[in-house]
Amino acid sequence: MAKLSAFATVFLAIISTATAIVPGTFFDRFFMIIFENTNFDAAQQNAYLKSLTSRNNSVFLSHYSGIAHPSQPNYIATLYGSNGDIFDDGVHDVNGNNLVDLLEAKGISWKGYMQDYPGNCFTDAKSGRYVRKHNPFISMADISSNPARCAKIVNADEIDADLAADGLPQFSYYVPNLDNDGHDTSLDFAMKWFQPWFEERLKNPNFTNGTLFLITFDEDETVTNHIFASLLGSPVTSGAHEDTTSYSHYSISKTLIDNWKLDNLGRNDVNATAFTQFLQHS
Ligand SMILES: *[C@@H]1O[C@H](CO)[C@@H](O)[C@H](O)[C@H]1NC(C)=O
Ligand SMILES: *[C@@H]1O[C@H](CO)[C@@H](O)[C@H](O)[C@H]1NC(C)=O
Ligand SMILES: *[C@@H]1O[C@H](CO)[C@@H](O)[C@H](O)[C@H]1NC(C)=O
Ligand SMILES: *[C@@H]1O[C@H](CO)[C@@H](O)[C@H](O)[C@H]1NC(C)=O
Repeated sequence: MAKLSAFATVFLAIISTATAIVPGTFFDRFFMIIFENTNFDAAQQNAYLKSLTSRNNSVFLSHYSGIAHPSQPNYIATLYGSNGDIFDDGVHDVNGNNLVDLLEAKGISWKGYMQDYPGNCFTDAKSGRYVRKHNPFISMADISSNPARCAKIVNADEIDADLAADGLPQFSYYVPNLDNDGHDTSLDFAMKWFQPWFEERLKNPNFTNGTLFLITFDEDETVTNHIFASLLGSPVTSGAHEDTTSYSHYSISKTLIDNWKLDNLGRNDVNATAFTQFLQHS
């Protein structure tokens, strides 16, 4: 019996080492979700998105911009600190360091949750309602060529098993399918999917504990590329804040870099501004 419990203690210690959280300056987890092709004004008029900006522990990032048109370079920018010389929605492989390299160097866990992703390092352009152009991870050559990394791009449904096991990665990047992200439907359709999905999970401490949430879009449908972005969660100080600083998709890497004192990518992340103004470790 004593032997068994000593074994159990060692076993539990191993498990807790494997899932150890690397504490951040402002937050311990970052969860982002990206919707599609919506002008700032339209997003602001959506009742659910508007309600997020008036919640306690929220920051409305009212001067946030996409970096390009069409979709793909915006997604690439979130991980790569530049458009990776991509100007279209075609299939490309991008070489060089990306955000995943910086996170792994510090032992910070990550996953790309892609709705309808078939798994098994699927690299084709499309499968059902999943599209590669909205999944920047698979375009990073040092992810697609590495089976262990590739296995962290998963079908989004896996998030519920991860939450049930208190295993939400420290960097979680959620991409809804072409219907639920509004691309082939409408903002109204997307928010009718998102609201119940998100509200249900916000009740789960395995989702919210130390997590900063970013809800945003890839791009607008005008030349200004002004998009809606909102932060939520316990890392935000008390109150519903508006931050009028100019941010872009490069600010995502910069925020994670500052939070976990990561190296930088040496690209547009270096001079981007982190959206940490109203954050404080809870
Ligand atoms: C949170 O994770 C723990 C495992 O550490 C699990 O027992 C619990 O059921 C999870 N809670 C929810 C609401 O998923
Ligand atoms: C929240 O996470 C921290 C580590 O980041 C952990 O120490 C704490 O037990 C967790 N609290 C809950 C309620 O899960
Ligand atoms: C807002 O959240 C803070 C914790 O950050 C809490 O102390 C405060 O009571 C909350 N305010 C309201 C109005 O709920
Ligand atoms: C960052 O800005 C500084 C000062 O303007 C400039 O010298 C430097 O080249 C920029 N770095 C990058 C990587 O863009």
